[in-house]
Amino acid sequence: MEVGKHSDEENLTAQVVRGKVLWEANNCMGCHTIMGEGAYYAPELTKVVERRGEGYMKAVLMSKTPWSPRGRKMVAYGFSEEQANDLVAFFTWIGNTDLNGFPPKPDYKSTINTK
Ligand code: HEC
Repeated sequence: MEVGKHSDEENLTAQVVRGKVLWEANNCMGCHTIMGEGAYYAPELTKVVERRGEGYMKAVLMSKTPWSPRGRKMVAYGFSEEQANDLVAFFTWIGNTDLNGFPPKPDYKSTINTK
């Protein structure tokens, strides 16, 4: 993967790193994708900060009951405010990474060789 070349490493703060650790430790990729990597059960999260905003995301992450306005259930992690802030910082960093045009428009599935 080429991400290293395009990521803005000077913005990689301790808070972003804590958010990344939470992302990995809680198997978020078992349902979600970042930059297309992960599972396709739940929304792609690369641009989630832009799409949803910090307040919405914190409500989802800190919720003590499964968040599911659209039917499928997000795990009720009940994160602390600090943990939620760490995850938002991580997603902010991901969202600002130069993704070389990802996610591509229109739908990239039409260009994948599925055999
Ligand atoms: C069991 C599957 C599952 C796991 C594991 C999971 N999520 Fe989710 N998540 C969902 C589903 C499904 C939704 C969409 C719920 C809806 O809007 O109805 C969601 C929604 C979200 C949203 C809001 C996205 C949006 O566009 O509305 C964020 C942010 C989020 N999850 C972050 C995380 C993080 C961070 C983790 C790991 C700590 C995680 N999720 C783990 C299933 C999961």
